Parts: sequence; C-alpha cells; structure tokens
Amino acid sequence: MLYRPRRLRSSEALRSMVRETRVSADSLVYPMFVKDGENIKEEIGAMPGQYRYSIDRMGECLEEVINSGVKSVMLFGIPSRKDECGSGAWDENGIIQRALRYAKAEYPQLYYITDVCMCEYTSHGHCGVLSGDYVDNDRTVELLARTAVSHVKAGADMVAPSDMMDGRVGAIRSELDKNGFINTPVMAYSAKYASAFYGPFREAAGSAPSFGDRKSYQMDFHNIDEAVREAGLDIDEGADIIMVKPGMAYLDVLYKIKEEYGIPTALYSVSGEYSMIKAAASLGCVDEEKMICETAACMFRAGADILITYFAKELAGFIKRGLIG
Ligand code: PBG
Repeated sequence: MLYRPRRLRSSEALRSMVRETRVSADSLVYPMFVKDGENIKEEIGAMPGQYRYSIDRMGECLEEVINSGVKSVMLFGIPSRKDECGSGAWDENGIIQRALRYAKAEYPQLYYITDVCMCEYTSHGHCGVLSGDYVDNDRTVELLARTAVSHVKAGADMVAPSDMMDGRVGAIRSELDKNGFINTPVMAYSAKYASAFYGPFREAAGSAPSFGDRKSYQMDFHNIDEAVREAGLDIDEGADIIMVKPGMAYLDVLYKIKEEYGIPTALYSVSGEYSMIKAAASLGCVDEEKMICETAACMFRAGADILITYFAKELAGFIKRGLIG
C-alpha cells in the first residue's frame, strides 16, 4: 500500500504538524452586555456564565477578557428607557456611549467593536422605526448612520451594523467619512438570518419584538445564493469585514461567501449555540470543553477569519493549554 493516511495520524506531534487549521486567540471577539444602573452583575437565565454589567462593574468582565488573552470585545447596550424611534441608540449619553468612554479610558489595550442596531432601544423591539407595522428602511438607515457616528465619537474602534436594512453600510461609511473617521472599519452583518438561535440573546437584551417577527428584514434560512448577493452589496457599499450569523448551522454559507470574495469574514456563534452546549453539558450529555474546542475549530476550518463567541475567554485558555491549535 503506497498511501496510508493513518501514518500522519500516528502521534500528537505529527498530527499537530500537519494540521490544516490553526486557531488563535487573536481571532476571537467576546460579546458582552452593558446595562444602565449601578452595581449590577446579573446572570442571564438562558445563558449560564454570561452576565449583564453596569458600567461601574464592567471592568470585572474586561479584566477577565484581558487576562484570558482575548483582545477584542463587542458591546451590546441595555438602556433604562426605550421609545418608538429608539433615540437611546444615538444619545451621546446613552449606555453604549458612556460605557465606551469609561472602558476606553480604563482599559485602552482592548479593541472595542459596537453592535449598531435599534432593537434594544425601541419600545416595540424591532430593529428600526415603524411605518404602521412595517419597519421603514430608509428612515432607519439615517438613524443607524447617526448611531454609528455617535459610537465612534465615544471611542468605538469598529462598528458592526446588525439590523439588516438595505443600504445601511453605504450610509454608515459616508457619515463616518463626513465626520473624519475615514479609518474606522465597518464590519457588516451581511448574511444574518431570521433565527431561533437568537432566543437567549433576546432574553439577555430584552429585545424581542412585541409583535410579528424579523422575517421582513433578516434572511430566510432556506437561502444561500441570497447570502452571496447580500455580502456582495455590503462589499460594494464599503464593508471592510463581512459576517455570517448564526454560526454552527450556517457553515455552508460561510464557506461559500469566503470562497467567493476572499475578504476578511467573521462568524458569529450566537447565544442559542452557547446555551445548547451549556445545557447539554449540564445534563451530562456531552463534554463541554471538547464541544467548545471542536465547534470553534470547525468554524475556522469552514473559513472564519474572526470568531465572535460567548466562549471566547474559555477558548483562549484551551488554546494556551494546547487543547486546540
Ligand atoms: C441585534 C442583534 C441580535 C443579535 C446580535 N445583534 C438579536 C436579533 O437580531 O434578534 C443576536 C446575538 C445572539 O443571539 O447571540 N439586532
């Protein structure tokens, strides 16, 4: 027998030598929730081990992130008051803006990405302003651009629009440029599907829509050609990084988009993916550590350059210990 594939699997030294996918903490982003109020660190029921922090306590979390070796966080805001048009999103004293000013001053070594969306700030929970029952695309796009500029003014290093309105990347790029932020990158949630995997996040952020669903703006999970078109539009509008979301069940979409465009591509392994592993492990059905390592490595194998995950801190530890690499 000339070829014996098992030869290269015969020791750990050899397996790690011929490994095709390398995993590094440099590519991880940790999503975290900041909430209006004081002295808050409250666990999110559906996401054991994940918390909402008030600004005065967010340092506890940022220190854990820094100590783990993860270099970047993505911030989500939970405001104390919401209104019809989500004005808290672009308020210069809004939760994200204040959190950014604090975190950038105290922990400047981290890289700060903000999620740009309206759903945490609107009283109806939709990702934009309403015209009757319809989410008004073009009015929402103006407000998103305003929100993105306010985040960058407060210190955001990168903005990530997650609303799925048409034309928002171009509008954000042009508003950022007009304000002199020509070097602030935009990471577009390009192929973001209307997904049940966001269930735990909506509990975490209190952002479930009060009527209907998000299917008129987020993508239909039966589609993949459409994801390629969406990513192409975002690139044409100036996206520096494109994203696929959710992760685990959408790796075909990631693979195809990465093959097609070859630009930096992020994958968001979302709340439901985190909760599934946590729940299955707590029942003793699976080994938590191994599940976290395997799913993350598979996401990189499928083409992710950047992985946004609630397991980022744990993963960085597993990488250090050589459990994946
Ligand atoms: C805001 C937003 C959501 C997520 C990221 N940004 C929720 C949604 O679209 O309903 C989901 C993240 C997760 O589930 O971890 N639009």
